[in-house]
Amino acid sequence: MRFSDDFIRRVIEANNLVDIISQYTQLKPTGGGLMGRCPFPDHQEKTPSFSVSEQKQVYNCFGCHKSGNIVSFLRDYHGYAFPEAIEWLAKRASIPMPESDRSKEDDAAAAKRKKIFEVNRLATVFFVEQLARTRSDHYVRQYLQKRGLSEETINAFSIGLAPREWDSFVTELNAKKIPLQIAEEARLIVARKDGRSGHFDMFRDRLMFPILNTMGEAVAFGGRVLNPEDNPKYLNSPETPVFEKKKVLYGLHQTARYIRSEDQAVIVEGYMDAVSLYQAGIRNVAAVMSSSLTMEQSRIIKRMTRNVVMLLDGDQAGIDGAERSLPLLLQGDLYPKGVFLPGNKDPDDFVRSEGAEALQQVIASAQDLLFVVMDRWLVGYRGEPAEKLKLVDKLKPILNGIPDPRLRELYMQEVAQRLGAQLPWLRQALSTTGSSENSFTAPANSSRGGPGNQPQRGSSVSSSQGGVRREAPPAAGEPSQIVLKGAPTAELTAMALALKSRANFETFSSEGSLEWFHHVGVHKILTEAISVYGQDPERFDRLASLLVSSVDQPGLLFAREFSGPKGPEEFDSELETKWLKDALKRVREGFLRSQLQKLRAELATDPSPEKLERLANLQKDITRLTKG
Ligand code: UTP
Ligand code: MN
Repeated sequence: MRFSDDFIRRVIEANNLVDIISQYTQLKPTGGGLMGRCPFPDHQEKTPSFSVSEQKQVYNCFGCHKSGNIVSFLRDYHGYAFPEAIEWLAKRASIPMPESDRSKEDDAAAAKRKKIFEVNRLATVFFVEQLARTRSDHYVRQYLQKRGLSEETINAFSIGLAPREWDSFVTELNAKKIPLQIAEEARLIVARKDGRSGHFDMFRDRLMFPILNTMGEAVAFGGRVLNPEDNPKYLNSPETPVFEKKKVLYGLHQTARYIRSEDQAVIVEGYMDAVSLYQAGIRNVAAVMSSSLTMEQSRIIKRMTRNVVMLLDGDQAGIDGAERSLPLLLQGDLYPKGVFLPGNKDPDDFVRSEGAEALQQVIASAQDLLFVVMDRWLVGYRGEPAEKLKLVDKLKPILNGIPDPRLRELYMQEVAQRLGAQLPWLRQALSTTGSSENSFTAPANSSRGGPGNQPQRGSSVSSSQGGVRREAPPAAGEPSQIVLKGAPTAELTAMALALKSRANFETFSSEGSLEWFHHVGVHKILTEAISVYGQDPERFDRLASLLVSSVDQPGLLFAREFSGPKGPEEFDSELETKWLKDALKRVREGFLRSQLQKLRAELATDPSPEKLERLANLQKDITRLTKG
């Protein structure tokens, strides 16, 4: 739609920038004009540096240097396209759209939409009243109590009740003399199909969640069964002229400002999850209307923040949803993270049993969604060339879809590490169209000992390849592989504990010695750890996650749940230090005993006094170690 310059000017003049910006940040008069904290989510500041001139109708941030007028504000803040901004501002100032731009059809459609919004509003009020009217012994009250929903939350989300009768809302419409046809188009009532005339309610005996658009208008409803025998658990409005599922996020109308102020959106899957988190004080939340996020939803979120944390259900649907959402979020220029909730709980279950603080911790522990998804793909990954290509093909559209080249580069570096591939190779692989078909079916090079071959103690696939992981081009060479299989328990325990925290690693460095470690895989990992720690302790924290893809049994990198005195939840650093020291002691003992064995063998052919003395010393050491 093209507007005349005159129309645009009229619309802009009819709106005041100060009124609009005041919705997002508090503006206070100062010497020169109005000042406030910058409302843009990428610029979080403590002291106000955002100035707005009412007279000039412009804004400027002295901190982040964003500036513009009313149209660019709406564009920058909400992502409105220019015509959308003009349309929105015209509506806001009650200026009718220019005649020439409207066809009769548009008019009719707009009028219908308006009526549907009205009947949806009526339904919202009706359901809310029905709930308010119930007595305290009504089963819906018991249900709400069981789910722990407070009056305040029920009000905040306008949660209501659709009565059990088959036509209560139809009756309401008739009483209000509202044409049933509109309610039918709003999909609130259904015409009987059995030949008889009349309508019945679409939602019956359900807890009602109105679904609002960002402007707060009800566009649809979700109704949860109260009787567990009814089906489906949630009945949702089908699409209507005002409802496109892919464009709506449940709860956003209530939570947008929290998302803005936290500069982070927590995305959940269910209505109840959003409501429950809101009630628990985690208010920067919204729910998708399906198991994955759409492009449109990404765009909506981006108006408020770029930081998205998806709280994922551990079931297959949750994983699939994460995979589907990932490319869209990245293409949308967002920074998506994800985390699976422990114990297969959904966010509502989790926050109710573990509390808001525990959930905040889980949220804070979220990893980049790309790596969350990749970790799933890397289960069982051994770094074989064909596997590598297969993964690169999956990653290709995702990585290539990232608009910011800097982020793409950073992700590529990390992906290369995790795949055990070299960056230049990865870069090339992502830019060329390879024949993935061939690479899938290419026979494995059988002349080489594959990762399935168990290495001898004291030799290893990886060492015999001479640090292939770094030097050789992975596509042509042996896949990176550190074999931990067959490592002594004490060595594995010491290694996993040493990798667990910097504090533990310090203990390991001061109390232990690399030469004690006999197993080549463990030795290799610890060598790597020492070098990384020496270069950059910050990077050390992520070492285990980096090593995951190059180890045959990645689980061994992570210290098992060591149970504290009060159960596995209890973390006791002192106890952990003790375990580490014990493990190191056992490793050392193993080392000394193998030295002893070797020396004894040598003594058989060469009983020199020097060797005899070493033998005595070794025996002394072992005695001291096992007694002390
Ligand atoms: P869940 O079954 O995980 O529901 O579905 P929930 O949010 O945990 O609900 P409670 O705790 O049992 O009340 C998650 C979301 O999937 C959609 C709904 O949007 C729901 O919130 N869903 C689920 C449906 O649309 N229909 C269904 O039958 C089930
Ligand atoms: Mn639930």
